[in-house]
Amino acid sequence: MKITIRLTVSLLLAVALVAVIFSYYQVRDEKERLINDLERRTIVLAESLQESVKNLIQTNSSAKLNRFVERFGNRERLKGIAIYDIQGNVLASTPKFASKIPQPLPQVVTSITEKRAIDSFTNIDGKKAYLYTFPIEQEDEIIGALSIFQDAAYINVRLKGIWRHNLLRFLILSSLIAITTLLMVRWSITGPIARIAVWMQDMRMGKGKIAKPAGLHRGDVLSPLITEVTHLTKSLAMARAMAEEEAKLRLHAESLWTPNRLKEHMRAELEGKKLFLISNREPYMHVKEGRSIKCIVPAGGLVTALDPVMRVCDGIWIAHGSGDADREVVDAENKLRVPPDEQAYTLKRVWLTKEEEDGYYYGFSNEGIWPLCHITHTRPVFRLDDWVYYQRVNEKFAEALLKEISDEKAPLVLIQDYHLALLPLLIKEKRPDAKVALFWHIPWPNPESFGICPWQQEILMGMLGADIIGFHIQYHCNNFLDTVDRFLESKINWEQFSVERGGSTTFVKPFPISVDFGNLAVDKTAVIAEKETLRENLLKEIDIHVEYLGVGVDRLDYTKGIPERFRAIERFLEKYPEFIGKFTFVELGAPSRTHIKRYHDLIAEVEEIAEKINWKFQSKEWKPIVFLKAHHSHETINRYYKASDICMVTSLHDGMNLVAKEFIASRGDEDGVLILSQFTGASRELSDAVIVNPYDTEGMADAIYSALNMEAVERSERMKRMRALIREYNIYRWAGDLITELARLRVSSAENPK
Ligand code: G6P
Repeated sequence: MKITIRLTVSLLLAVALVAVIFSYYQVRDEKERLINDLERRTIVLAESLQESVKNLIQTNSSAKLNRFVERFGNRERLKGIAIYDIQGNVLASTPKFASKIPQPLPQVVTSITEKRAIDSFTNIDGKKAYLYTFPIEQEDEIIGALSIFQDAAYINVRLKGIWRHNLLRFLILSSLIAITTLLMVRWSITGPIARIAVWMQDMRMGKGKIAKPAGLHRGDVLSPLITEVTHLTKSLAMARAMAEEEAKLRLHAESLWTPNRLKEHMRAELEGKKLFLISNREPYMHVKEGRSIKCIVPAGGLVTALDPVMRVCDGIWIAHGSGDADREVVDAENKLRVPPDEQAYTLKRVWLTKEEEDGYYYGFSNEGIWPLCHITHTRPVFRLDDWVYYQRVNEKFAEALLKEISDEKAPLVLIQDYHLALLPLLIKEKRPDAKVALFWHIPWPNPESFGICPWQQEILMGMLGADIIGFHIQYHCNNFLDTVDRFLESKINWEQFSVERGGSTTFVKPFPISVDFGNLAVDKTAVIAEKETLRENLLKEIDIHVEYLGVGVDRLDYTKGIPERFRAIERFLEKYPEFIGKFTFVELGAPSRTHIKRYHDLIAEVEEIAEKINWKFQSKEWKPIVFLKAHHSHETINRYYKASDICMVTSLHDGMNLVAKEFIASRGDEDGVLILSQFTGASRELSDAVIVNPYDTEGMADAIYSALNMEAVERSERMKRMRALIREYNIYRWAGDLITELARLRVSSAENPK
């Protein structure tokens, strides 16, 4: 209440001040105008009488004089006139008024003596009057004077009227201001604050939902505060969930990896050292949207997996700054703290020229190594120019990293993926004390396939600069060791899966990557209760009404088997027509690497197949495939995961595939069926998924049928088992294992550089 009073009083004082100043000037101007008007009228009258009065004085007839002045008694505002002789004695005056004229009148004497007109205000009969006297001349000689008495009382009446009027206006305005202020303060400040307080209290007591206090809208004055409080509340909720988890863990004597546990573990293992992570793709990309800058999280498993780790471990993530607004948000060292709303670690951006990006990223990495490692019948292309750029950019990343680690003793370096195969050796040559791990997120082919790469030895030697090389599965480790064995002079130790070369050792191990499982203490009943509404809303958004919903989430990449998936859906509807009108599959496809023709063509191909299938089966209110080609946020993707009956991952070849794991992690209702390609790394762990061969259209169609017909109990049993697995083998465990292994290595290479 205090604030309302203070605000109202200050507003009223300001308005009162303004009103007084304005009224003062208004009154002053009005007074000036009225007086001028009175003077002007009197002078005009005086001039019109002058000649007659002169003649009358000369005739010296008091009868004529009296007759003359009598005529000037009844006029509006003219009280009367008086005619004087040269000594200032009254010769004649308006009779009704005669007794009220002061005698003698000094103004008359002065006017006659000084031969000029004189005016003044005086009080006659207690009322204000205007007196105008002027001498009457006859051939340069004064023969008398004439005084005109005008009523001036109306001027004060008019001025008082103005003050009264303005006071009334002020009072009305004040009441309006007071009421408006009261309402505005209540609507925009005290009301929302009260609601926020209730909301925060609910949050504190763990009663409410984090979303937003009811009745508060975007653009509200308190929005920034609400956003901050929401973050705070989220952190509180997360901290509470973590504490609950920890408590549970203690209770069950389990050893689940949680963000907290990883944090503590890292503190002990790193002994205060920073973690350095290098990848081509950055975790946060700034892009221009109209005049503003938007921060997006690029699609892809690498970022999905590693961002939660870096949030916990802090440190520096070095990556290519590829967003068109990336340069606008970094400091002088090309760094910024991310995520934008949490600022948990540092992102350092490396800039590449267009030629470098073309040769190194699009060319050698994605037209060469990517198809070489995936073996999906897309022929790798190796150009000398691309290779030169690949080497140059790897050196550029090495320079950026070396600068960052210059003051660190035995720094821990995690290099990510096939874009940076040469980096381990480049780092070790300069900093033999660094502990370097290279994690290869994509498959490794057999030696015959790898053998077609013209720079096979250089790539292998570059990679073997690392102390540890990680793949998702043992099979890829074996392929790698076979390849090294075939193409390099080295000693393979098949007991401990390592390569010894030039006096140093590289361990080659599987570290199956995973996702952040999220809330361990999820309330299943609440999730089920929310699911129906979520599903209804989603279907409304895509304007489809169906019984069964399927989802696919991919970067639009030819390795993901999207055309194969669509063909299987077509076959499924042909084989099981009872599902026509009842099942819709939503594909959330993020365009990727579109400057490469194969990717560009793929989008057209996927669109065409979807359209063809839709055309074949669709009705007025239904279609089998909804292809949402866009970059989708994690939040949107999660809504689809939660609302769908099945999720399809049909990669033709995939290192791991985190979509499969994300889908499982999101299913707090312990429902939903995962259809998973046997050619993904994930299929080695997730045997409770419905495993398919994406090249087998018939088999996939049947898989969709059995997934949709699966008994609820079986669905739940399978999902529970998969959830237990992902909960245990989550991303924190992956990071914990890899970093521990690296930190505990005794790096012999300080004496024997590779
Ligand atoms: C795969 C690769 C990652 C890459 C991601 C997205 O998961 O292993 O290194 O970041 O795809 O691809 P992009 O080319 O957009 O980085």
